[in-house]
Amino acid sequence: MSGALTDAAAGRMRVMVVAGARPNFMKVAPVLFALEKAGHQAILVHTGQHYDARMSDAFFADLGIPEPDHHLGVGGGSHAVQTARVMEAFEPVLAAERPDWLVVVGDVNSTIACALVASKLREGLGCRIAHVEAGLRSHDWRMPEEVNRVLTDRLSDLLLTPSRDAHPNLLAEGIPAERAVFVGNVMIDTLVAQLSAARDLDLPGRMGLARGGYALATLHRPSNVDDAENLGAVLGALQAVARQLPVVLPLHPRTRKNVDAFGLADRIQGMHVLEPLGYREMQSLSDGAAVVLTDSGGLQEETTYLGVPCVTLREQTERPITLTEGTNRMAPWPLTAEGVFQAAQEARAMGRMDAGARVPEGWDGRAAERIVAALARA
Ligand code: UD1
Repeated sequence: MSGALTDAAAGRMRVMVVAGARPNFMKVAPVLFALEKAGHQAILVHTGQHYDARMSDAFFADLGIPEPDHHLGVGGGSHAVQTARVMEAFEPVLAAERPDWLVVVGDVNSTIACALVASKLREGLGCRIAHVEAGLRSHDWRMPEEVNRVLTDRLSDLLLTPSRDAHPNLLAEGIPAERAVFVGNVMIDTLVAQLSAARDLDLPGRMGLARGGYALATLHRPSNVDDAENLGAVLGALQAVARQLPVVLPLHPRTRKNVDAFGLADRIQGMHVLEPLGYREMQSLSDGAAVVLTDSGGLQEETTYLGVPCVTLREQTERPITLTEGTNRMAPWPLTAEGVFQAAQEARAMGRMDAGARVPEGWDGRAAERIVAALARA
């Protein structure tokens, strides 16, 4: 009997999991662990969309993710170049491995690139596509991630959602209800598993910052950082906060390049400016902050779990459950120094809650188990 037949007889699935960019790594880790625990075969593909040690390797080390079985090494480039390179490199890997499932996570260019390749090979290979973090919508088509989300969901056979509010979004796009399965938030699996190690790290203490005595800020969205005027305004707002409270600002490579290119280095003086952080370092700082100011999607969810007030520096969010059931609030739009400062003051005044005290349904550390069960059932 061939290996594939033996596996099928034993109910053992071959599942290819794709990771490309920083926000993917904390989502694939628990899925890989849960697949292994249930006796299935996981095949990990790293597209190489993010390649710096601090954007990629640090997360593999912190999260205990095994070496990828395939590294596509695509690197940076325009959206078209990056997406095309992933597609070209991924097609022969998928064709050779012939998994039962392709699992893609989140909304980055690697997500749509691999889903698109698999959708064209689906019939010949008998490989189905599952999207983890399906159904989130910002309804803002200017965001590359929104395009990636909508198209990936349309191409997928199984839509694994992090919160119940994702389901009406999918139904509104004509996706049959039975294709979507609520599994909860897999990123919180990683946070639950890593929180005590992150606390032990005590990065705030090592930086001389008191717990609850500083603000943590992150910025990397093209809408905030690719335009000199917008980036100047957002950094001006953080300067206003920094006059009241120490501001810690880990800088994404995109933001670092633009701060230099637009001559805005004076706007970040006086802040604790850091290189991109590893996973535990980031959670250690989030967990200790009085308030987090961010344009990241992941941090909106993580602060909700941690019970730390969050101010989102965007026009809208694809994670509205963090507003209604969590600690998140939107900064008034368009962003101004006064508006952001005021929102940060109000958020701080709300105070912090204990981690896990009040969280949306399914943000409980067991989403990956439910994902594996949904794959096996489908
Ligand atoms: C990507 C994702 C975004 C996610 C973000 C998290 C898409 C469309 N965007 O945006 O959803 O929130 O990752 O970080 O997929 N760079 C480095 N080293 C690296 C990676 C990137 O220097 O390891 C540079 C690139 O050369 C580029 C810039 O940073 O100049 C942006 O990288 P890119 O992967 O294009 O997109 P992100 O802005 O990181």
